[in-house]
Amino acid sequence: MTSADSTWSPRSWRDKPAAQQPDWPDEAALEAVLKQMGTLPPLVFAGEARALTEALGHVARGEAFLLQAGDCAESFEAFSADAIRDKLKVILQMAVVLTYSSGVPTVKVGRIAGQFAKPRSAPTETIGDLTLPSFRGHMVNDIAPTEAARIPDPGRLLAAYHQSSSTLNLLRAFTKGGFADLGRVHQWTQEFVRSSPEAVRYEQLAREIDRALRFMRACGLDPDSVPTLHEVDFYTSHEALVLGYEEALTRRDSLTGDFYDCSAHMIWIGERTRGLDDAHVEFFRGVSNPVGVKVGPTASADEVLALCQALNPERVPGRLTLITRMGADRITDGLRPLLRAVTDAGHPVVWTCDPMHGNTFTAPSGRKTRHFDAILAEIKGFFDAHEAEGTWPGGVHVELTGDDVTECLGGAEELVDDDLGLRYESMCDPRLNGRQSLDLAFRVAELLRG
Ligand code: PEP
Ligand code: CO
Repeated sequence: MTSADSTWSPRSWRDKPAAQQPDWPDEAALEAVLKQMGTLPPLVFAGEARALTEALGHVARGEAFLLQAGDCAESFEAFSADAIRDKLKVILQMAVVLTYSSGVPTVKVGRIAGQFAKPRSAPTETIGDLTLPSFRGHMVNDIAPTEAARIPDPGRLLAAYHQSSSTLNLLRAFTKGGFADLGRVHQWTQEFVRSSPEAVRYEQLAREIDRALRFMRACGLDPDSVPTLHEVDFYTSHEALVLGYEEALTRRDSLTGDFYDCSAHMIWIGERTRGLDDAHVEFFRGVSNPVGVKVGPTASADEVLALCQALNPERVPGRLTLITRMGADRITDGLRPLLRAVTDAGHPVVWTCDPMHGNTFTAPSGRKTRHFDAILAEIKGFFDAHEAEGTWPGGVHVELTGDDVTECLGGAEELVDDDLGLRYESMCDPRLNGRQSLDLAFRVAELLRG
């Protein structure tokens, strides 16, 4: 795709207003780091990004479903092989549930290997009697409540690159090296989930998959010779917020001559930075990766159409994903006019539902949380709107972890506010735990079948 005209370059965003950028204390130190990053190997290959565009093209046509999931914010501290493996396990389990129940392929995209920068609703926060610069993600500063920890440090950009690189390396090893083999579907259940009703339901489904594989063998088809049963295509994504970092990892593809942001396969623009004439849209319009845009409750049909035109003028199916996040009570009415406008204009987009960010509130305990029922209600409203307009509810975009955390209320364990303090580990927004994630997959599968 060559959407970039002669006015675009990887640095042309610098002439536009860029919201939510860190206040780097030392411009020269920042530029030195970015220059160094520009010489480092890309994290992904342009051909992989094109393969994801193609897979998402199937979603845009209603022939596949998108599961995009992972942390709200990755952490430099909670970084281990086990944490990566456990997140992958729960995403693989969800994908199996969705694929088996819906009969269409699930495109798997992690919020992982680069999800280190956060937009904030205010530039400062008050903790006790201290007013400090806000935490902006480990790519920028540290969460510790001290003035020194909150100073943006460009060395963190490099640390984020290296952590993304080793995360991606392990993900590739797991997904191509046998761990994601469909014959291992039983082994993805974590110990703490094993005795739960969701796990029992999952085991049942896993046994049916075993039976199907045995049936194939009995018919003389050899599952061992079908690579797609033993390997998984797993893609990475993050909010491309800190534009200096994204620019530094942008490379011209030698095969096509097009620019790709090689920090991840897919990148998205957040709800707070999608201004049409602003720096993020400028940067995104010129890179050829599949891109997403968050669409909140205030987005008008005209705004959304203008974004479609700016980011996908050639109307390539799979190039643009609209990630709606309106809130459970606003989704059905808010989404329908947008579905109609985009369909009438003939823009081939992937519609996916982020049921997390429109349903966040502060519980009486003071913790940021979301209720499982509201998450489910927004997804239900999303499906209802698509059914009414005759469009394809293409996917879900969720914040989750494989771990046994207590961050979202409700679910089969019926977590209440008093439980949130037990294992609240997120640095940013509350995530579904392993059980809630699996439960959600079954509910979405039911909606897909319905
Ligand atoms: C996020 O995805 O973590 C996020 C900040 O979302 P939004 O831009 O939709 O608020
Ligand atoms: Co979030």
